[in-house]
Amino acid sequence: MIQHKRPRRLRFNQAIRSLIAETTLSVNDLIMPIFINENIKQKEPIYSMPGIYRHTIQSAIEQCQIIGDLGIPACALFPSIPNELKNSKASEALNINGFYYEAISKIKESCPELLIISDVALDPYSSDGHDGLVMGTRIANDETVDILSKMALYQAKAGADIIAPSDMMDARVGAIRKALEEASFNNTLIMSYSSKYVSSLYRPFRDALDSAPKKGDKKTYQMDPANRLEALKEVQLDEEEGADIILIKPASIYTDIIRDVKENTTLPIAAYHVSGEYSMIKAAADKGYLNYEDTLYETLLCIKRAGANMILSYGAIDAALMINQKYMR
Ligand code: PBG
Repeated sequence: MIQHKRPRRLRFNQAIRSLIAETTLSVNDLIMPIFINENIKQKEPIYSMPGIYRHTIQSAIEQCQIIGDLGIPACALFPSIPNELKNSKASEALNINGFYYEAISKIKESCPELLIISDVALDPYSSDGHDGLVMGTRIANDETVDILSKMALYQAKAGADIIAPSDMMDARVGAIRKALEEASFNNTLIMSYSSKYVSSLYRPFRDALDSAPKKGDKKTYQMDPANRLEALKEVQLDEEEGADIILIKPASIYTDIIRDVKENTTLPIAAYHVSGEYSMIKAAADKGYLNYEDTLYETLLCIKRAGANMILSYGAIDAALMINQKYMR
């Protein structure tokens, strides 16, 4: 049969496949989230996230050294706060001598090259388990933003390179930018969770931090999974308010949003492959239904193909090991 067009010619062997690959996943694209806790003596496993731990400052530093050695450029630090320090005002968030600020500065001291992404939201500190202050039945926006901008400044002072507000309050990026500029933190980056959807996939994260909302849900501040255009509006506002990097989460079942945003902004895009997305792969692999490495690699590659420049994933270390060993599909 004479056949001029044979697309399979370009898939003939690994060498030609490598030459024509439109997307590559690199260690440089990865960010590893790390949980830290003040009250533990040694790292402790999180039951709904196999392979992931709550760390002491010391074990977090060891983890960061591994991350740096692998070539991963950044970690994202999340504090798990003991219940006795939580209250309805989330006041521990503004304790300048608190554990989170200490952890940021000690990790920065030990691993100066590694970028530290710090989390700005009230849920780890709030006895109500919400990202903002609860006043009656509402989540107070502007009062929360005042606290968030102070937190951001404290984090920058402690040594955070990238401030990442994950709270979804209105106008917080502008307030944080103003606070940073006024204190001459001109080079501190803001990675804004611009399009953060209400998602069932955050549950293992809330287990890790014991931060689930005590009442209600997060639907008055996080976005409805039904919406696309709303993501573009949020991104545009954050861009105007001074964000440097736009974050979208979850990632793997929201790749259409990543693509939409990519086509509408010149800012770099981070995608958060969240706890539930990681745990689904882990659980299926533990049962023998899926291969962990293959599924993780494919998922992260597809998130990249959709338009993400960088990916936060609990599988970042595993993926880096695979990439460094020239793992290929
Ligand atoms: C809360 C926050 C959440 C995540 C990051 N920051 C959970 C939530 O909104 O309830 C989820 C991350 C993950 O699931 O891995 N500020």
